Amino acid sequence: MSAGLDGKVAFVTGVSSGIGAAAAHALAAAGARVFGFDLTSPAVTCDAVRACGGDMAGYRGDVSVEDDVIGAVGTCLDSFGTLDIAVNCAGTANECPSLEETVEDFDRVVAVNLRGTFLVGRESIRQMLSHGKGGRIVNIASDLGYLGRAGYGSYCASKGAVLSLTRSWAREFAPRVLVNCVAPGPIDTPMLGPDFMSPEVRASETAIPLARIGSVEEVAAAIVFLSGPGATFMTGQTIGPNGGSVMP
Ligand SMILES: NC(=O)c1ccc[n+]([C@@H]2O[C@H](COP(=O)([O-])OP(=O)(O)OC[C@H]3O[C@@H](n4cnc5c(N)ncnc54)[C@H](O)[C@@H]3O)[C@@H](O)[C@H]2O)c1
Repeated sequence: MSAGLDGKVAFVTGVSSGIGAAAAHALAAAGARVFGFDLTSPAVTCDAVRACGGDMAGYRGDVSVEDDVIGAVGTCLDSFGTLDIAVNCAGTANECPSLEETVEDFDRVVAVNLRGTFLVGRESIRQMLSHGKGGRIVNIASDLGYLGRAGYGSYCASKGAVLSLTRSWAREFAPRVLVNCVAPGPIDTPMLGPDFMSPEVRASETAIPLARIGSVEEVAAAIVFLSGPGATFMTGQTIGPNGGSVMP
Protein backbone atom coordinates (compact mmCIF):
# COMPACT_ATOMS: atom_id res chain seq x y z
CA MET A 1 0.00 0.00 0.00
CA SER A 2 1.19 3.54 -0.66
CA ALA A 3 -0.25 6.80 0.64
CA GLY A 4 1.79 9.50 -0.99
CA LEU A 5 5.25 9.05 0.53
CA ASP A 6 6.83 7.17 -2.38
CA GLY A 7 10.42 8.34 -2.87
CA LYS A 8 10.57 10.01 0.53
CA VAL A 9 13.06 9.15 3.26
CA ALA A 10 11.85 9.40 6.85
CA PHE A 11 14.31 9.65 9.77
CA VAL A 12 12.44 8.40 12.84
CA THR A 13 13.71 8.30 16.43
CA GLY A 14 12.50 5.99 19.18
CA VAL A 15 11.75 3.21 16.67
CA SER A 16 12.53 0.28 18.94
CA SER A 17 9.30 0.60 20.89
CA GLY A 18 5.82 2.04 21.09
CA ILE A 19 4.82 5.01 18.97
CA GLY A 20 8.16 5.18 17.12
CA ALA A 21 7.91 1.55 16.01
CA ALA A 22 4.33 2.09 14.83
CA ALA A 23 5.39 5.26 13.01
CA ALA A 24 8.14 3.34 11.21
CA HIS A 25 5.61 0.74 10.06
CA ALA A 26 3.03 3.30 8.99
CA LEU A 27 5.50 5.54 7.13
CA ALA A 28 6.92 2.50 5.31
CA ALA A 29 3.40 1.35 4.44
CA ALA A 30 2.79 4.83 3.02
CA GLY A 31 5.79 4.36 0.70
CA ALA A 32 8.65 6.00 2.60
CA ARG A 33 12.03 4.46 3.16
CA VAL A 34 12.65 4.63 6.91
CA PHE A 35 15.89 5.30 8.79
CA GLY A 36 15.31 4.37 12.43
CA PHE A 37 17.35 5.64 15.38
CA ASP A 38 17.13 4.40 18.97
CA LEU A 39 19.12 3.98 22.17
CA THR A 40 18.40 0.26 21.96
CA SER A 41 18.86 -1.84 18.86
CA PRO A 42 16.29 -1.05 16.15
CA ALA A 43 16.89 -4.48 14.57
CA VAL A 44 13.54 -6.00 15.56
CA THR A 45 11.59 -3.07 14.09
CA CYS A 46 13.75 -3.08 10.94
CA ASP A 47 13.13 -6.80 10.43
CA ALA A 48 9.39 -6.39 11.00
CA VAL A 49 9.10 -3.49 8.56
CA ARG A 50 11.11 -5.39 5.94
CA ALA A 51 8.93 -8.48 6.48
CA CYS A 52 5.95 -6.31 5.51
CA GLY A 53 7.71 -5.24 2.30
CA GLY A 54 9.08 -1.94 3.59
CA ASP A 55 12.59 -0.56 3.33
CA MET A 56 14.22 0.30 6.66
CA ALA A 57 17.72 0.77 8.06
CA GLY A 58 18.59 1.22 11.71
CA TYR A 59 21.14 3.07 13.84
CA ARG A 60 21.82 2.80 17.54
CA GLY A 61 22.54 6.02 19.43
CA ASP A 62 21.39 8.61 21.93
CA VAL A 63 19.33 11.54 20.63
CA SER A 64 20.72 13.77 23.37
CA VAL A 65 24.32 13.29 22.14
CA GLU A 66 25.27 15.63 19.30
CA ASP A 67 27.85 13.32 17.74
CA ASP A 68 25.38 10.42 17.71
CA VAL A 69 22.77 12.49 15.90
CA ILE A 70 25.27 13.86 13.38
CA GLY A 71 26.55 10.31 12.79
CA ALA A 72 23.04 8.96 12.30
CA VAL A 73 22.02 11.66 9.83
CA GLY A 74 25.26 11.07 7.90
CA THR A 75 24.59 7.33 7.78
CA CYS A 76 21.01 7.98 6.65
CA LEU A 77 22.34 10.07 3.75
CA ASP A 78 24.92 7.39 2.91
CA SER A 79 22.21 4.71 2.98
CA PHE A 80 19.32 6.45 1.28
CA GLY A 81 20.83 9.55 -0.36
CA THR A 82 18.42 12.05 1.13
CA LEU A 83 16.29 12.95 4.15
CA ASP A 84 12.80 14.40 3.63
CA ILE A 85 10.90 13.78 6.88
CA ALA A 86 12.12 13.71 10.49
CA VAL A 87 9.92 12.34 13.27
CA ASN A 88 11.02 12.92 16.87
CA CYS A 89 9.48 10.03 18.83
CA ALA A 90 12.29 9.21 21.27
CA GLY A 91 11.29 10.24 24.74
CA THR A 92 11.56 9.49 28.42
CA ALA A 93 9.79 10.40 31.67
CA ASN A 94 10.56 10.46 35.36
CA GLU A 95 7.68 10.17 37.81
CA CYS A 96 8.97 11.94 40.90
CA PRO A 97 7.79 14.64 43.31
CA SER A 98 9.53 17.80 42.14
CA LEU A 99 11.06 18.53 45.55
CA GLU A 100 12.76 15.14 45.43
CA GLU A 101 13.87 15.17 41.79
CA THR A 102 17.62 15.34 41.34
CA VAL A 103 19.27 17.73 38.92
CA GLU A 104 20.62 14.71 37.06
CA ASP A 105 17.16 13.19 36.58
CA PHE A 106 15.64 16.53 35.57
CA ASP A 107 18.45 17.17 33.09
CA ARG A 108 18.16 13.68 31.61
CA VAL A 109 14.45 14.11 30.81
CA VAL A 110 15.02 17.52 29.26
CA ALA A 111 18.09 16.30 27.36
CA VAL A 112 16.23 13.41 25.71
CA ASN A 113 12.90 15.11 25.08
CA LEU A 114 13.99 18.65 24.23
CA ARG A 115 17.69 18.63 23.31
CA GLY A 116 17.15 15.43 21.31
CA THR A 117 14.31 17.03 19.38
CA PHE A 118 16.48 20.09 18.79
CA LEU A 119 19.50 18.07 17.58
CA VAL A 120 17.55 15.79 15.25
CA GLY A 121 15.54 18.70 13.91
CA ARG A 122 18.59 20.90 13.41
CA GLU A 123 20.58 18.25 11.52
CA SER A 124 17.55 17.21 9.47
CA ILE A 125 16.58 20.75 8.52
CA ARG A 126 20.16 21.44 7.43
CA GLN A 127 19.80 18.58 4.94
CA MET A 128 16.31 19.62 3.85
CA LEU A 129 17.55 23.12 3.08
CA SER A 130 20.75 21.99 1.39
CA HIS A 131 19.08 19.58 -1.04
CA GLY A 132 16.54 22.24 -1.98
CA LYS A 133 13.41 20.07 -1.75
CA GLY A 134 12.42 21.19 1.74
CA GLY A 135 10.82 18.72 4.08
CA ARG A 136 8.71 17.97 7.11
CA ILE A 137 9.45 17.83 10.81
CA VAL A 138 6.97 16.03 13.05
CA ASN A 139 7.71 16.45 16.75
CA ILE A 140 6.02 14.35 19.42
CA ALA A 141 4.95 16.28 22.49
CA SER A 142 2.18 15.18 24.88
CA ASP A 143 -1.20 16.36 26.12
CA LEU A 144 0.66 16.82 29.41
CA GLY A 145 2.61 19.64 27.76
CA TYR A 146 -0.68 21.58 28.03
CA LEU A 147 -2.21 20.03 31.13
CA GLY A 148 0.75 19.53 33.45
CA ARG A 149 0.75 16.72 35.97
CA ALA A 150 1.85 16.48 39.60
CA GLY A 151 4.98 14.36 39.83
CA TYR A 152 5.86 14.86 36.16
CA GLY A 153 7.23 18.40 36.20
CA SER A 154 10.36 17.67 34.15
CA TYR A 155 8.40 15.68 31.55
CA CYS A 156 5.62 18.23 31.21
CA ALA A 157 8.09 21.12 30.99
CA SER A 158 10.09 19.35 28.30
CA LYS A 159 6.95 18.63 26.26
CA GLY A 160 5.69 22.19 26.64
CA ALA A 161 9.03 23.31 25.26
CA VAL A 162 8.63 20.95 22.28
CA LEU A 163 5.27 22.58 21.52
CA SER A 164 6.96 25.98 21.60
CA LEU A 165 10.00 24.89 19.57
CA THR A 166 7.60 23.57 16.92
CA ARG A 167 5.95 26.98 16.52
CA SER A 168 9.29 28.82 16.44
CA TRP A 169 10.74 26.50 13.81
CA ALA A 170 7.54 26.69 11.76
CA ARG A 171 8.08 30.44 11.49
CA GLU A 172 11.84 30.24 11.01
CA PHE A 173 11.88 27.64 8.23
CA ALA A 174 8.68 28.46 6.30
CA PRO A 175 7.97 27.89 3.52
CA ARG A 176 10.59 25.25 2.77
CA VAL A 177 10.25 23.09 5.87
CA LEU A 178 6.85 22.50 7.47
CA VAL A 179 7.18 21.87 11.20
CA ASN A 180 4.26 20.34 13.08
CA CYS A 181 3.63 18.39 16.24
CA VAL A 182 1.58 15.48 17.51
CA ALA A 183 0.59 15.67 21.19
CA PRO A 184 -0.85 12.28 22.16
CA GLY A 185 -2.93 11.53 25.18
CA PRO A 186 -2.53 8.18 26.99
CA ILE A 187 -1.26 5.55 24.55
CA ASP A 188 -0.69 1.88 25.27
CA THR A 189 3.11 1.62 25.24
CA PRO A 190 5.81 0.69 27.77
CA MET A 191 5.90 4.37 28.80
CA LEU A 192 2.50 3.84 30.38
CA GLY A 193 3.72 0.70 32.13
CA PRO A 194 4.99 0.04 35.67
CA ASP A 195 8.56 1.15 34.92
CA PHE A 196 7.38 4.66 34.12
CA MET A 197 4.10 5.10 35.96
CA SER A 198 2.53 4.19 39.29
CA PRO A 199 -0.78 2.28 39.12
CA GLU A 200 -2.60 5.36 40.50
CA VAL A 201 -1.35 7.62 37.71
CA ARG A 202 -2.02 5.00 35.05
CA ALA A 203 -5.59 4.59 36.33
CA SER A 204 -6.17 8.34 35.99
CA GLU A 205 -5.29 8.15 32.29
CA THR A 206 -8.75 6.95 31.25
CA ALA A 207 -10.54 9.94 32.82
CA ILE A 208 -10.95 11.50 29.38
CA PRO A 209 -14.03 11.92 27.17
CA LEU A 210 -13.35 8.76 25.13
CA ALA A 211 -12.66 6.87 28.39
CA ARG A 212 -9.92 4.63 27.04
CA ILE A 213 -6.22 4.48 26.32
CA GLY A 214 -5.28 4.99 22.67
CA SER A 215 -3.29 2.75 20.37
CA VAL A 216 0.07 3.43 18.75
CA GLU A 217 -1.61 3.09 15.35
CA GLU A 218 -3.89 6.01 16.21
CA VAL A 219 -0.83 8.19 16.79
CA ALA A 220 1.05 6.86 13.77
CA ALA A 221 -1.87 7.87 11.53
CA ALA A 222 -1.46 11.49 12.66
CA ILE A 223 2.31 11.31 12.02
CA VAL A 224 1.79 9.98 8.48
CA PHE A 225 -0.81 12.67 7.79
CA LEU A 226 1.56 15.48 8.85
CA SER A 227 4.32 13.90 6.74
CA GLY A 228 2.25 13.62 3.59
CA PRO A 229 0.43 15.39 0.78
CA GLY A 230 -2.65 16.11 2.88
CA ALA A 231 -0.80 18.55 5.11
CA THR A 232 0.74 21.00 2.64
CA PHE A 233 -0.98 24.04 4.22
CA MET A 234 -0.11 23.13 7.81
CA THR A 235 2.84 24.43 9.78
CA GLY A 236 3.27 25.25 13.44
CA GLN A 237 0.24 23.09 14.25
CA THR A 238 -0.25 20.49 16.93
CA ILE A 239 -2.79 17.74 16.48
CA GLY A 240 -3.91 15.65 19.40
CA PRO A 241 -4.79 11.95 19.25
CA ASN A 242 -5.78 12.21 22.89
CA GLY A 243 -9.34 10.95 23.40
CA GLY A 244 -10.41 14.52 24.10
CA SER A 245 -8.10 15.17 27.05
CA VAL A 246 -7.20 18.56 25.57
CA MET A 247 -9.56 20.64 23.45
CA PRO A 248 -7.62 23.81 22.60
N1 LIG B 1 2.70 6.49 25.70
C1 LIG B 1 2.04 7.60 25.99
O1 LIG B 1 1.01 7.60 26.68
C2 LIG B 1 2.53 8.91 25.44
C3 LIG B 1 1.68 10.02 25.56
C4 LIG B 1 2.10 11.24 25.07
C5 LIG B 1 3.34 11.35 24.48
N2 LIG B 1 4.14 10.28 24.37
C6 LIG B 1 5.45 10.48 23.74
O2 LIG B 1 5.56 9.62 22.63
C7 LIG B 1 6.94 9.33 22.40
C8 LIG B 1 7.13 7.83 22.30
O3 LIG B 1 6.78 7.27 23.56
P1 LIG B 1 6.28 5.78 23.73
O4 LIG B 1 5.08 5.83 24.55
O5 LIG B 1 6.27 5.08 22.42
O6 LIG B 1 7.45 5.25 24.67
P2 LIG B 1 8.36 3.93 24.60
O7 LIG B 1 9.04 3.92 25.91
O8 LIG B 1 7.55 2.77 24.18
O9 LIG B 1 9.40 4.27 23.44
C9 LIG B 1 10.35 5.27 23.58
C10 LIG B 1 11.54 4.89 22.70
O10 LIG B 1 12.49 5.97 22.78
C11 LIG B 1 13.77 5.39 22.93
N3 LIG B 1 14.67 6.33 23.59
C12 LIG B 1 14.59 6.74 24.87
N4 LIG B 1 15.60 7.57 25.13
C13 LIG B 1 16.33 7.67 23.99
C14 LIG B 1 17.51 8.36 23.65
N5 LIG B 1 18.16 9.11 24.55
N6 LIG B 1 17.98 8.26 22.39
C15 LIG B 1 17.34 7.48 21.49
N7 LIG B 1 16.22 6.77 21.76
C16 LIG B 1 15.73 6.88 23.01
C17 LIG B 1 13.54 4.14 23.75
O11 LIG B 1 14.63 3.24 23.65
C18 LIG B 1 12.25 3.62 23.17
O12 LIG B 1 12.49 2.77 22.07
C19 LIG B 1 7.70 9.94 23.58
O13 LIG B 1 8.24 11.18 23.18
C20 LIG B 1 6.62 10.15 24.61
O14 LIG B 1 6.93 11.21 25.50
C21 LIG B 1 3.77 9.06 24.84
